[in-house]
Order: sequence, then C-alpha cells, then structure tokens
Amino acid sequence: MRTQVGIIGAGPAGLLLSHLLHLRGVSSVVLERRSRAYVEGRVRAGVLEQGTVETLVEAGVGERLRREGLPHHGIELRYGGRGHRIAFEELVPGRTITVYGQQEVVKDLIAARLEAGGDVRFEVEDVALHDLDGEPYLTFGGERLACDVIAGCDGFHGVSRLSVPEGVLTFHERDYPFAWLGVLARVAPSSDELIYSRTERGFALHSMRTPEISRFYLQVPPDATAGEWPDERVWAELKARLETVPGFTLATGEILEKAVTPMRGFVTEPMQYGRLYLAGDAAHIVPPTGAKGLNLAVADVRVLTEALDRFFSTGSADLLDGYSAACLRRVWRAQHFSWWMTTLLHTFDSDDAYGRRLQLSYLDYVTSSRAAATTLAENYVGLP
Ligand code: APR
Ligand code: PHB
Repeated sequence: MRTQVGIIGAGPAGLLLSHLLHLRGVSSVVLERRSRAYVEGRVRAGVLEQGTVETLVEAGVGERLRREGLPHHGIELRYGGRGHRIAFEELVPGRTITVYGQQEVVKDLIAARLEAGGDVRFEVEDVALHDLDGEPYLTFGGERLACDVIAGCDGFHGVSRLSVPEGVLTFHERDYPFAWLGVLARVAPSSDELIYSRTERGFALHSMRTPEISRFYLQVPPDATAGEWPDERVWAELKARLETVPGFTLATGEILEKAVTPMRGFVTEPMQYGRLYLAGDAAHIVPPTGAKGLNLAVADVRVLTEALDRFFSTGSADLLDGYSAACLRRVWRAQHFSWWMTTLLHTFDSDDAYGRRLQLSYLDYVTSSRAAATTLAENYVGLP
C-alpha cells in the first residue's frame, strides 16, 4: 500500500489535514487507534476562533457549524463580587468567537471524509513509524503503508513524537499545581456569555454547548478524580464559585459527563524530523484557560497543507523545511496567553496574601484599562 501522506490520529488535526489535502488533490490515509463512536463522543473544548471558523467554512465543512454554532461577542471576568465584560465588539471590532463542541467538528470532518471516499481507518492497532529520515513507511495490524510524508496528529499521548531519535527534539514543559474538572449538564446556560470566575475557593468557568446544554469547569487538586465529585458536590461548588455577584443564580440539571484534565503547557521544538511533521496536541499542549488548543491545531494544519501542496505540486520542500518555524511563533504566543490567563484566574496554594493582592490588582488593570482589555480580547479571539 502506498499514499502521499500517512496521517496518524483522527482528531481535529488529522481529519482536517486529510480533508484539506483532498481538496488540493493530495492523497492520504488516516490511522486512528480508537473507534469512530469513541472519537465522535469524546467531550473536549468548544471555543472556535474566527480564523478556525473561516477555515472550516472555506473547506466546505462549516454548514452545521454556521447553523448551530453560537457566536459570542464578549466574555465576563468575575471576581471581587463583580462581573466585568470584555467586549469584543468594542475592543476588536468585527471579530468574534463561536462556541461549537470539538466533537461536533470531528463528526462533521469524518462525515466529509467518508462522503468523499476518504480512507479513514478506526481501531487500528500498533501503529509504528519507520525510516523517517529516508523512505518513510508505517506499519499497523500486520499491514505496511509507504508514504512520501508522515503527519503525526496523534495528540499528546501519541506515538509519533516518541518515534524521533532521542536528543533530536527539545521538549519545554510547565505543569500547573491543579487540574480542571470538566462537567457537561443538561440545563440551559445561566448566562448568554462565558463567565471566567476567580474566587478564593478556586477558579470556575461557565461555558455552554447549545441552548439546552451547559459546560462547566472547576479548578481541582492535581490528583483529583471524578469519583470524588458526586453531582451534589459539583453543583454546590459551582454555585459557591459562580453565584458571587448580586442577582446571579446558577440553574442546575442532569449531569451527563464528568472528567478531570491535567493542566500543562508543553512545546516540542522543532515540530518536525526528516519526513515526519507533528501537528496539534502531538506537538504542543496549552492549559485550556485561553481556549487555544483546538485553534492551534487548525493553524498548524493550515500551514502544513500549504507546505505539502507546494511539495507535491512543484517538488520544492522549502515550505516544508520552514514548517516548524512558521508554526512556533503562534504556538509560543498562545503558550504565553494561556499561561497568563491561567495565572490571572486560578488560586495557587503557594501564593501568600501579597501574591493574591497582586493578582487582584492585575485583574483590576485588565478590566479598567482599554489597552489591557484589548490585549486580552485580541489574543482570545485569535491573532491573525
Ligand atoms: N495510533 C493511532 N491513533 C492514535 C495513537 C496511536 N498510537 N495515539 C493517539 N491516537 C489518536 C487519538 O485516539 C486521537 O483520536 O490521535 C488522535 C489525536 O486527537 P486529539 O487528541 O484530539 O489531538 P488534535 O487532533 O491535535 O486536536 C487538538 O485541541 O482542544 C484541544 O486537546 C484538545 O484534542 C484537542 C486538540
Ligand atoms: C469549553 O466550552 O469547553 C471551554 C470554553 C472556554 C475555555 C475552555 C473550554 O477557556
């Protein structure tokens, strides 16, 4: 078997890459370890930057996104007994974000790939990468797939990054001393906009998926488990951290899903080796406070598509050679923004009263200075 691009992983990165390459006439095979039902059902992030929406719409997979996605024109920062709106329409006119679940993006992409006769294989076992700096090929479940290029889109726990000889890549990592408990609930959102709430009890986020489904996150200890968070405890804590301004009541409902996500920043440099190119979570992770993970994956894939198109249509590898450098500028900006939002809003056990006053002072600055609020807004909606 032979293909032009062997893609490992059917997350947003791998599926979008396969679809965009198909539109440019480049063939690919996607190999995914999990079942289709598993990847379509996995609840993840949900904030799409305008550039991400435009990429999906231009690629012809934005129809349901346009119909069901919820455009947002601001977010609320809540602390010290007050809510403060960061108004995108005022600070970054014409730019918005859209709330649409990542697993909905994945469903739309899988449907598009299959409709176009794309080769997406689920439940593929033991994918291994070979001869990355020569004539690359993949093996899996007793089969062999020769590729001109391999795209490692297999997420943070994938096999691609680990297949590069030791010492070639540098890994930069920051672990945070807390995790997020993510909660999906069948209840109408209690607010039209996302609420990022900083309290002495820890951080809470009120997000949403549809007019009937809300999404919440709670800062929890790094070793917390979902089992320690029965539904009553989740609602009590969400209320304690969100009902902090006069007149706000949190509506409760049936909890559909609960999971703990570690918080870390991680960057691989460079994001390539030989004929292997890493994209999305395989190359970098951000703490979710800035809502950048999925958007960075889409940005990588845009750059990689251009580079591969050039390579296959002209034989020139110049864009491929510059792939990592072209991506890392945005990756590091997003790392900084995500770190900044995280430190602004969470409680750190190591913080003394002085540290907490600094944090509150900075929040006051961000919510009262137009320049500081614009910095937040333009990073949040996504830099060009
Ligand atoms: N072989 C085949 N597939 C694999 C392997 C493997 N050895 N290891 C992992 N995978 C698959 C996973 O099962 C998953 O479906 O690769 C896919 C990676 O998808 P994601 O983790 O979703 O990563 P990515 O596509 O880069 O998406 C970007 O943005 O919002 C963030 O973290 C969130 O997943 C999101 C990411
Ligand atoms: C989500 O809706 O899942 C979400 C929203 C904002 C974030 C992170 C996650 O910062």
